[in-house]
Formats: sequence, C-alpha cells, structure tokens
Amino acid sequence: MSDSYFDRAAADWDDQPRRVQLVKATGAAILHEVQLSKTMGVLDYGCGTGLLGLYLLPHVRSVAGADSSLGMLDVLNKKITEGGLNDMRAIRLDLENDPVPEDRFDLIVVGMAMHHIADVDKVFLAIHTMLRPGGVLCIADLDTEPGVFHPASRPVPHHGFDRDELKKRLEGHGFTGSRDVTVTTFAKPVEAGGEREFSVFLITSIRP
Ligand SMILES: C[S@@+](CC[C@H](N)C(=O)[O-])C[C@H]1O[C@@H](n2cnc3c(N)ncnc32)[C@H](O)[C@@H]1O
Repeated sequence: MSDSYFDRAAADWDDQPRRVQLVKATGAAILHEVQLSKTMGVLDYGCGTGLLGLYLLPHVRSVAGADSSLGMLDVLNKKITEGGLNDMRAIRLDLENDPVPEDRFDLIVVGMAMHHIADVDKVFLAIHTMLRPGGVLCIADLDTEPGVFHPASRPVPHHGFDRDELKKRLEGHGFTGSRDVTVTTFAKPVEAGGEREFSVFLITSIRP
C-alpha cells in the first residue's frame, strides 16, 4: 500500500532546505565512514525522492532507490529520466509487508525512514538477507526525542532511537562492528511554539 501522506508530500519534498542540508550531511558522513567504490551496488531504502542515493551515485556503481510511496518514486523516476541516469533505478518496496526481493547489495542506506517503520526487526532481518557478505548497513535517524519532531496529527511509531539500543539490536540480528557518529544537529519549529534542537546519528554495521 502506498502512503498517502508521503504521496502528497513528494512534489514539494526537495523544496525544504533543512531536509536537503540533512541529506548532504548524511551523505558526507557516509563518505567519511564507509570506503565506497565504483564496484558497489547500493540500495537507498526509504529513499523518498532519492536525495541520498543521488548524493552517493557518483561514488558507486549503481543505486536502487526503494520506497513504499508511489508518489515519491514518481518524483525519483522523473529525475532518473531527465538526468539520463542509467545507473539509478526506482523500485517500490515495503520490507514490512513484501517478500524479501532477490536483489543483493554491497551497501544499504536508510535515511530518516526507520522511525516511520513500526517493525524495525523485520526490516533488519530483510536487510541482512539483502546485503552481500561484508556488506554495510548505514542508518541515519533521529536521536531519541520527546515526540515533538512530527506534528501530533502525524504520529510515527518511533520518537527517534537510542543509538546503543539500536546497535545492540543490530548485533542481535547478526550484524557486527556497529559504530555511531553524529551527523548534525539542527533547530526545527515545533507545534508547542518556538524551536527545538534535534540531532541525527549515523550507525554503520557490517553483515559478516
Ligand atoms: C522522512 S522520509 C525520508 C526520505 C529520504 N530518505 C530523505 O531523507 O529525503 C521517509 C520515507 O520513508 C518511506 N517509508 C516509510 N515507511 C516505509 C516502508 N515500510 N518501506 C519503505 N519505505 C517507507 C516514506 O514513504 C518516505 O519516503
């Protein structure tokens, strides 16, 4: 099922400078933390309009952007067509509900999507299967926040994550060498009024 909120948000998604800045900071942190190469096939899971995958594309062989929202994928497909990007493709995928695809990857990145996914354990298992041995998982997401990042009308299953708890969970699913760094901190207006600081981490984990 496509997500109607993200379907509607897709057309203007890239117009929010804070969002684009966050993706750039996440991409830079991935370049710093992971040795990328032109032999690597990458999956950008929860890709939205593909901002993170497109950032990484010049450094790798190919990128598949996967998302459950058809609206987001339409925007990404337009970028692929207009840019003549033969090394990027968009696929509809919801690892909470769909069977694990046959495709295998050297790197899977998940940028600000994990807090929208109720059953993160199911998705970690699927990602473990989809990574080639030695492949790397990168998760960028919010540090634990008091539930004010999203408006009350748009509840999400996770108010960010505790980094250590998430790393333990990944190790429980067979990942190793989990590390975390801070990608950035930024201020965002909140419903109660004024602005609040949020921080975003990057966890890297290896599928042995
Ligand atoms: C906050 S957006 C982040 C998009 C993009 N990674 C970025 O940083 O611009 C979260 C994305 O996760 C997608 N998403 C949410 N649940 C998902 C699921 N179960 N499977 C795949 N994608 C999902 C949404 O459709 C949305 O595009």
